[in-house]
Amino acid sequence: MILLSISIFWLSVCVDPFSADPHITVEAHVGSTALLPCHLSKDFTQTSVIQWRADNEIVFERSFDDTHEGPGYEGRVDVPEDELHKGNCSLVLKDVRITDHAFYRSLELAESKYFYKATEINTVQLDVVQSVSAQVGSTAVLPCDWRHLSIQTPHVEWSIGDEIVFERLGKDSFQGEGYEGRVDVPEEELLKGNCSLVLKNVSVTDEARYSSYILMTDTKKPALVQNIKLSASEKFEKREDDPLGTINSWVVIFILPINSALNPILYTLTTSFFREQVELLLCRWQRSSSFMKDRKSLTSTTIYMEPSRHMFYHSKGKLSQVSYPDARYS
Ligand SMILES: *[C@@H]1O[C@H](CO)[C@@H](O)[C@H](O)[C@H]1NC(C)=O
Ligand SMILES: *[C@@H]1O[C@H](CO)[C@@H](O)[C@H](O)[C@H]1NC(C)=O
Ligand SMILES: *[C@@H]1O[C@H](CO)[C@@H](O)[C@H](O)[C@H]1NC(C)=O
Repeated sequence: MILLSISIFWLSVCVDPFSADPHITVEAHVGSTALLPCHLSKDFTQTSVIQWRADNEIVFERSFDDTHEGPGYEGRVDVPEDELHKGNCSLVLKDVRITDHAFYRSLELAESKYFYKATEINTVQLDVVQSVSAQVGSTAVLPCDWRHLSIQTPHVEWSIGDEIVFERLGKDSFQGEGYEGRVDVPEEELLKGNCSLVLKNVSVTDEARYSSYILMTDTKKPALVQNIKLSASEKFEKREDDPLGTINSWVVIFILPINSALNPILYTLTTSFFREQVELLLCRWQRSSSFMKDRKSLTSTTIYMEPSRHMFYHSKGKLSQVSYPDARYS
């Protein structure tokens, strides 16, 4: 927790305010409640309608006296009325499902004479993550469901990045390198809409982010179905012996004190007094050796001080990058 807040502080220090991405990504775990942020610039009036869409399908709509929930979102979505009157058009999405992984847009529809004029307010990418943990040597099932896709012949592909782990089209299947004899998506399950990957004899090296795709029959384009983060734990390990947690503690115990101990030294190195002293020393040294060299080297020594400060700044950034993912998933 301590490390997490420190990482956040470092990240906020290192983030360039001018390179802010206008798109918002919200990460949510399956079963949790996600909040897709939105803010109205104008007041919500009697004639306006707020609409949320996912990949162009209606998710939720609220007019002055009515609401509408899109198919698959019944009972799970809302833009609370009281919040909306305060200009808060955020979408509350309960009981997040794998199929909610999509690109969402909030729109304001204003009634004009014969039609509604739609103005986009906000775009949000909802990243639905599912974690699966399995014991080393056991069989893991990485869930996948393609029933929401309108296709006749399912062609499934499981991969880690660009590397294919498993592929099935009807009776034909392919098992990727290192997964021979260990992976399957049973044909009868696939036909029923279940594209879950069965991974036998899980090993520590199987830990990765797996993505499942269904290749669309007409376009042959892959449609992402799900991202699964698989973690493998040793058989007789107790829950408290979380290796990541231990590493984090070691980082806190050793690296942070080293960092604090170094700070005074590094600050000293960068104070103008110290720099003057160094430059003075270098000048003296230079004068003594000026028989051989010209005066150009003084400027180069002054410039030399700058990279050392720069390096210190970067080393801070690197540590935060290393510790951030650990802190998030521990
Ligand atoms: C907007 O509304 C949601 C609930 O609808 C709430 O959780 C969130 O805190 C609100 N945001 C602001 C900035 O008030
Ligand atoms: C999907 O398939 C996997 C393995 O083939 C199985 O373990 C799981 O129970 C199936 N899920 C459903 C909902 O049928
Ligand atoms: C499981 O995998 C390990 C290597 O990770 C191998 O040594 C072992 O023989 C495998 N067991 C079975 C039952 O295939």
